[in-house]
Formats: sequence, C-alpha cells, structure tokens
Amino acid sequence: MSLNLSLATTRLENGPSMPAQERDLHSFSNPEQIRVRHIDLDLTVLFENKTLHGVAVLSFVRLDATSHLTVDTMRLNILKVEVSAEGSTYRPASSSLGEDDPILGSALTIELPADANYVRIEYLTAPHAPALQWLDSHQTAGKNKPFLLTQSQTIHARSWIPLQDSPQVRMTYEATVRTPPDLLAVMSASDNPQSLGDGEYHFAMPQPIPSYLIALAVGELAFKAVGPRSGVYAELPVIEKAVAEFSDLENMIRATEKLYGPYLWDRYDLLVLPPSFPLGGMENPRLTFVTPTILAGDRSLVSVIVHEIAHAWSGNLVTNATWSDFWLNEGFAVYVERRVIEELYGNQRAEMEAVLGRQELEEEISRLDDADEILHINLTNRDPEDGVTRIPYEKGALFLRQLEETFGRTRFDRFMRGYFDRFAFQSITTSDFLAYASENLLDGQVDLALIRQWLYEPGLPSSSPKPKSGAFAKVEEQAKLWLQRQLSTRELITDSWTTHEWLHFLRFLPKNFNVAGMTELDRYFQLTKSGNSEIVHQWLLMAIRNDYRLAFDRLADFFAKTGRGKLIQPLYQELAKSTEGKRFAREVYEQARPGYHPLVVKKIDRALDWKLAERHDKSRIARISSG
Ligand code: BES
Ligand code: ZN
Repeated sequence: MSLNLSLATTRLENGPSMPAQERDLHSFSNPEQIRVRHIDLDLTVLFENKTLHGVAVLSFVRLDATSHLTVDTMRLNILKVEVSAEGSTYRPASSSLGEDDPILGSALTIELPADANYVRIEYLTAPHAPALQWLDSHQTAGKNKPFLLTQSQTIHARSWIPLQDSPQVRMTYEATVRTPPDLLAVMSASDNPQSLGDGEYHFAMPQPIPSYLIALAVGELAFKAVGPRSGVYAELPVIEKAVAEFSDLENMIRATEKLYGPYLWDRYDLLVLPPSFPLGGMENPRLTFVTPTILAGDRSLVSVIVHEIAHAWSGNLVTNATWSDFWLNEGFAVYVERRVIEELYGNQRAEMEAVLGRQELEEEISRLDDADEILHINLTNRDPEDGVTRIPYEKGALFLRQLEETFGRTRFDRFMRGYFDRFAFQSITTSDFLAYASENLLDGQVDLALIRQWLYEPGLPSSSPKPKSGAFAKVEEQAKLWLQRQLSTRELITDSWTTHEWLHFLRFLPKNFNVAGMTELDRYFQLTKSGNSEIVHQWLLMAIRNDYRLAFDRLADFFAKTGRGKLIQPLYQELAKSTEGKRFAREVYEQARPGYHPLVVKKIDRALDWKLAERHDKSRIARISSG
C-alpha cells in the first residue's frame, strides 16, 4: 500500500492542482486564487421585515494574477458592489450573480481592477434565509420582544453575509450591529458584557476563523458571570436556572486545558436561546449557543456544554477543510468530551455516555446506506448536512478511543496535544490527519489496513471498542426481572437512577412494548410529565411506537414548545410510519412549523412529505384555474 506521507503544509498557498478530495465542493469561491482575510460588517436588524440590511467590506490577498473575486451568496438581494484601492473611496465594480443552486446558492463574481484591495457589498437578506431564525415575542421566554439568531454551520453563512463560505478560508472580522434600542446584540467575537443596550454594538474577532463560526443573536438578554472568564447570556426568566446548571463552566475549561493546552479564545460565554433553537449546542467561538432543553436542574445534560468547549480545540482551532472531513471536528469533540466528563464527573458517567453513544451509532448504522457510514464521506452533489449523522460523531470518537487503547493514555494524550499545536488555526483534511498520525503515532505499530478501514470503509471494524457500564448492567438486571414479572413496578429501585440510567432502562425495553406496561410505569414514575427533555423524548418515542394515547397531549405540547431537531425529528419520523400517526403529525406540524428553524423545517418537511403535499395542492389549483 502506498501512503503519501508528505504533509500539506502549504495548504494556504495551494493552487488549482489541489487533489480532488481536498477541494471544497460546497463553495463557488476561488480561495486558491484570492483569499479573503478580513470582513468588516455593518448590519442593521430590521425585525419588522425579518431582514438584515448589510454592508460587507472584504479585504483579501491575491495568490495569483486573477482578475475576479467569487463569493458565495444564498438568496441575497445584492444592492451595490464597489471596489476601492485604499478602503476609503469606493467606485462601482461590475459583477454578476450566477444561477441559483438549491444547495449552494449562487456565485457572485466581482471584476477586480488591478489596484482593487477592498470590495464593498451592500445587500438585504431574504426573509427565509436558511441561517436566520426570526422569533416573534410569543416564542421567547420573556414574551416581550422579538428575537433573532443565526446558525451558519454548515454552509448558511452565505445567506446573511456574502463571503468565501468554505471552512478552508479563515478570516478575522469586525462588526457594527444596529438594533432597536431596547435589545442586546451578541456575536461570536469580543464585546463588552457590561455594555448597555443603546442600539449600536461593536464586535471584533481578532483570531482567524472559518465562516461557519460567524454568529449573531439579538434579543432581550441579560448577562451573569459564572467564572473569571465566563458567563451566561439568557433571557431574564431563565438566567438563574442557567447559571445554576452551568456553574462548572470554569472547571470544564480547566480540565480541557490540562489535557490539550491553553484555551486560546480569551472569554468563554454561553448564550441560552429560546426553545426553538434548532441544535443542542453550537460552538461559536467565545460564545457557545445552547438550547434551553439541557436545563434539567441536575446538570445531567451538561455534556453538551463540555462538547462545545471541546470544539475550542477540535473545530475552531483545527478545522475540517471540507465537509467530508467533518468527523475531524465532531469525532474529536466527542472523544474530548468523554475525557473531560470522566475527569469532572468520574469514569462511571463517562462510560454510560459512551455506551449510549455506541447504541445510537449502531442504530444509525442499521438505517444508513453503506456509503454514508464512511468517516471520510463522499458528498459530491449532496447537501453537506447529509453527512451529519451519528457516524462522524460516534464512529469518529470510537476510532480515537481505539487508538488511545492501543497506545495507552500517556502516549495518545501527547499525540493529541501535539496535533492541536501542529494544526492550530489551520484547516486540514482526513489525509493530513492520516499523514500526521503515521509520522507521530502509528510508526508501524498498527496495521495501516485497520486505520484505512476506519477512515474509508463502512460499518465498524470488529475490533472497535465496546464501552461497558456496570451501572447499566444493574439497570438491565432489574429491567429483565421486571419484564418477566419477577419484580413489581413498586420494587424497582430507581431512586438513585441518573438521567442516563433512565434512558438506558427505557431503551432496553422491547420496541413493541405494550400500553399496560407504559401505563404502569407512568403511574409510578410520571414519565409523561418528566421535565427532563431527553427522558421525555425517549418516552414519547415509545408512546408513538406503542400507541400510548395518554401521552399524546404531552407529545403535541412538546412539538409546540421544542425546536431542537434531535428531539423532535425522530418523533415526527416515527409518527410518519402509520397513516393515522402521519395525520396527527401533520396537524401538529402545521401549527408548530412557523416556530421552527428553517433547517429543522427542511428535514421535517421531508419526513412528512410536506412540500410534496403543498406542491400537490398548488398543482391542483393550477390545473383548476387553467382548465
Ligand atoms: N457543530 C455542531 C452543530 C452542528 C453540526 C451544526 C452540523 C450544523 C451542522 C455542535 O457542536 C454539535 O455537535 N451539537 C450537538 C450536541 C453535541 C453534544 C453532540 C447537537 O446540537 O445535537
Ligand atoms: Zn459538535
């Protein structure tokens, strides 16, 4: 087997001869010819039109004699394009907007005179820009003011900023954000937590970051410090609860630093969003965005925070060069997450989370096509979000865990730390990782065929680690006895069960369980009323599978109040399996849909054939009116 061990150290200067797998298929931009280094933004937030008015000034370095700059856009209304030599006097530039691709948007190509060093673009965003979620006041906790949030990963930054929307391009940014006077704006950048809302905010991100990490939120927000370099932004009604849940923040950062070196982003704050936030968390630098659904009251769901902190190293410092290398971001983040959880909350909890993770992975593998089970996934002509499955997360983490077990912690920790140092502030591919690992870890001690199997083949190697949890074994013992009626519900010893043990218990019950059993569990443990979002999610999934109607009001309420894709999408999907379920799902969805994030809407639309139904109606109307 011939392995190319030469490191792509000159990636930034790579010309068009870049190997195919290293090219970013999901950007129209031309960073191998000209590279944007800094963006200066001036954004006005127009709630009444659900529109951002933007002026973006791009500065760049030319790597060859190119005469044009191509940036990505998605449904932007381009008002003006200008160029400047010195950044103060601008003159009109000629530009053209390419055809609209449903996944990639359209290329904006700007002619560059030889003396042009700055490009200024004035634009409006579309009301349905995929990155933007505009909430009416009733969708917030305060019920008082509207709210705006952005989600740029994977390729949505282009729907609110015209830029080279590729993770291979790192840039610094500054921004002025103009809002209604009584709202607070926050960004993935430095600002002053003490600053009073006056409707004009200034931000600066001095470290070069990829475009998918540019983020903004605007709402009626409060701030409270929880540590020397960290604090929580949230709406007033949830801030106390959030501060209590996240009081370990400083310990989490310290534990990660101890393993992988200093935290390089200065502050680490959290922004707790309204419940319609589509994700668990998003690692926007200096300001992680997080769902309020992890406010369980007992810190049992804080691994989401630990995960996002892990991205300060894996992802934000060392970034996937293409979305096919997404596992480098997420697999490493999950691996680091489990290490830090172990450090802070002990091996038992870390192992329980690893077991739950492997379960989810196996289930995912049983559903996916072979090609989608590959860590280095082929995304040619596909939406990069097709690659967002448990594979990059859990298979990636298992792979690293196997390396850890093979080489021992001391050696593997040293390797990981060296990796983050070596590639800090760079974007790398799977083959860069492989080359680095070959030189600095593997050195003939592991069979390269096994490594290649992990990276380039579907499924899991038979030698893949199988995490075990003693606590879960006890849960299983009880569950078995209970299922065989050798133990009554009252005799189940559940007082000491953590969220994880409850989840394991519920998942352990047979898929085709029964209404009587569910009624019994509900009577003793009030599961339908559980305020723990993960437990209630698992319970509702069972309720759908077993047609346990007593939980359907709670299900409808959950759909109305939760926008986190991971919690609601599987429930809609499960409902869609039966005709009656699908009808129920569509009814609730019709009400809830306007409150969901565009990215979640896209997925649930697919699960419920929603657009199809709409199109069907439209074509009927067209037929009726034409004939
Ligand atoms: N970076 C991801 C979120 C993401 C992934 C956004 C892909 C867009 C496309 C974030 O770090 C993440 O993984 N969040 C998880 C929680 C985590 C604990 C696994 C989520 O939101 O479910
Ligand atoms: Zn992540």
